[in-house]
Amino acid sequence: MISILDTLTKLAGGIQTQGSQGDHPFWMPVRGSETAARIDGLFDFILWVSIFFFALIVILMVWFMIKYRVKERGEVGPPIYHNTVLEFFWTAIPMIIVVIMFWVGFKGYMDLVVPPANAYEIQVTGQKWKWLFTYPNGYVDDTLHVPADQPVTLVMTSTDVVHSMFIPAFRAKMDVFPGRYSKLWFEADGPGEYPIYCAEYCGTSHSAMLSQCIAHPPGEFETWLTEASNFLDTVSPEEGGKMLYDMRGCAQCHSIDGTNRIGPSFQGAFGAQRAFTDGTEGVVDENYIRESLLQPQSKVVAGYDGVMPAFQGRMNDQEIGALIAYIKSLQ
Ligand code: CUA
Repeated sequence: MISILDTLTKLAGGIQTQGSQGDHPFWMPVRGSETAARIDGLFDFILWVSIFFFALIVILMVWFMIKYRVKERGEVGPPIYHNTVLEFFWTAIPMIIVVIMFWVGFKGYMDLVVPPANAYEIQVTGQKWKWLFTYPNGYVDDTLHVPADQPVTLVMTSTDVVHSMFIPAFRAKMDVFPGRYSKLWFEADGPGEYPIYCAEYCGTSHSAMLSQCIAHPPGEFETWLTEASNFLDTVSPEEGGKMLYDMRGCAQCHSIDGTNRIGPSFQGAFGAQRAFTDGTEGVVDENYIRESLLQPQSKVVAGYDGVMPAFQGRMNDQEIGALIAYIKSLQ
């Protein structure tokens, strides 16, 4: 009984759940922004209108089937012409309703794709199979950190195929293309952590192309950015390399336990002799690792597809040095 009441209460409107992340409506993800509430409102409106007309039409249909059924063989009913009043209303009322749906939906879409001028801008790179977020100072992270209560614009592009940035809590979704920029903006209405997905099938590890959006309380975002940006200065190159390995998407394809995945394992890689797809051979040394990061297609190890995204212009010397130190340590 309590569960039925509970369900009805939930159905009647959004409910609050435990946790600090705002509303959690019954059949929708957590709401993290004011836009999300408006989108849910439109969804509910369309849903209830559809339910109402579905019920009305089915009930009338069944009723007419019974009322006007043929009672005697060969019976012909009275001639039926039209009913102007009825036809006027069954045209005008649905038209008004769909115009409302269109207007609210169109306005919502325009709000979603046109970022406010004062928005904080973060560059997003989609690559197989990782989201990378570049902050205005050049720092790159695999988690999207944003200030709460401030509009944030994502300027997004892809290094390989079409991905789709999807943050359900903000009801925000936009395709991300190679060779082109698309934009998406949102404003988290408080601190919280929200999941990020890729919503466009982009290959083997599409379902693992996950991340988090962490909304920091006002003022704390700047502190986080300063500390995060200097992380390589505070750890050894080897530890820094390990962090970069996890953050920049190396881990998706290169294992550190000797198993070969989409790319060769990093374990024991340093110093190893490798045959390449073009028939040449070489030793994995500092220069080879550097070249493979910046121009991955120049020497692809035989037996693998050259699918690695290039890090030319996306990784500085300090970062490359740290990764080399890390790969060296995996003997
Ligand atoms: Cu990227 Cu699916």
